[in-house]
Amino acid sequence: MNINGTPTRTLRAHREQRVIDIIDQTRLPHALHWLRVATLDDAAHAIRAMQVRGAPLIGATAAYGLAIALSSDASSTHLANAGELLRSTRPTAINLHWALARMESVLQPLPAAQRCAAAWQEASAIAEEDVLQNAAIGQHGLALLRQIPHRQAGRLNIMTHCNAGWLATVDWGTALSPVYAAHDAGLAVHVWVSETRPRNQGLLTAWELAQHGVPHTLIADNAAGILLRQGQVDAVIVGADRIAANGDVANKVGTYLKALACADNDVPFYVAAPRSTLDFACPDGAAIPIEERESDEFRRVHGLDARGVPSALQQLPEKEAVANPAFDVTPARLVNAIITERGICSASSRALLALYPEMSAPK
Ligand code: MRU
Repeated sequence: MNINGTPTRTLRAHREQRVIDIIDQTRLPHALHWLRVATLDDAAHAIRAMQVRGAPLIGATAAYGLAIALSSDASSTHLANAGELLRSTRPTAINLHWALARMESVLQPLPAAQRCAAAWQEASAIAEEDVLQNAAIGQHGLALLRQIPHRQAGRLNIMTHCNAGWLATVDWGTALSPVYAAHDAGLAVHVWVSETRPRNQGLLTAWELAQHGVPHTLIADNAAGILLRQGQVDAVIVGADRIAANGDVANKVGTYLKALACADNDVPFYVAAPRSTLDFACPDGAAIPIEERESDEFRRVHGLDARGVPSALQQLPEKEAVANPAFDVTPARLVNAIITERGICSASSRALLALYPEMSAPK
């Protein structure tokens, strides 16, 4: 994706120095600030504090976190402990667990002296594959978008939720990759971006769409229903943090309500995700762990004050009880199709297995 007209990735690995640089997403959309990750604790903190976020990017960052950890101590004990620490950072996105399991399966059998180089190589392979897979999702999604009838003349209106774009991956994004592909192919596309309370990942989506020059409009989460009802949305595309074997989809809280409103208004609801988001060991959505985040996220609103200084304002009395589930599950029956790097399929175990036959016997 382009930042100021320059193709840019969200993660830069400096193998010689044994460090990576990430964008501190807690400072967006107000400041684009690159942050150095030089230790295992830096990597774990970046994921837990959501300096990096989005399922595929969390996976790639964890892989590099393991490589950084092995740069100082490549013993089996440290490998196991580092994996455990990184795995504990966030529960719902399966990409984190997938990336760590892949790293460990390569590294564990090796002698300690070979592990560090192998870890950097495997982490780099994970990041490169993410870029290629997301680009392929973009092309498959573009073919789908070309077939969708426009409800309003002049432009194709896509709605998305949360940020499943460039910032959630190493490049291109999942749900936004077809949007970038469509825009770059000359289709007149406009994106309705829902704010995504309480962490407002929609602001990240709006920021990156603006960087790439894609027309878009931010809406409050609760405005989605009226726009769908008024025929102002041709399709909804979201990402996923985990897709269970039966096609149920865990994604940012609020996704399920959009899928319900799509079904009621005959608007197609699509999920875009790479192989690393599929969890065939998880039979259905009920088995997906849903992250409950700290209530402070809900209690305080963040932004710039009148002087342009980042500030937080308390928006409710301390004694109010608050629940803050970060994800929800959309049942497979509400998903019209899943857009993957291998093609488009229905949300069912049969269709997913037809695309990914190697997953029929999960380890
Ligand atoms: O809690 P986050 O910001 O890490 O949320 C995860 C997500 O980015 C979304 O749920 C997204 O739609 C799926 S990740 C491409």
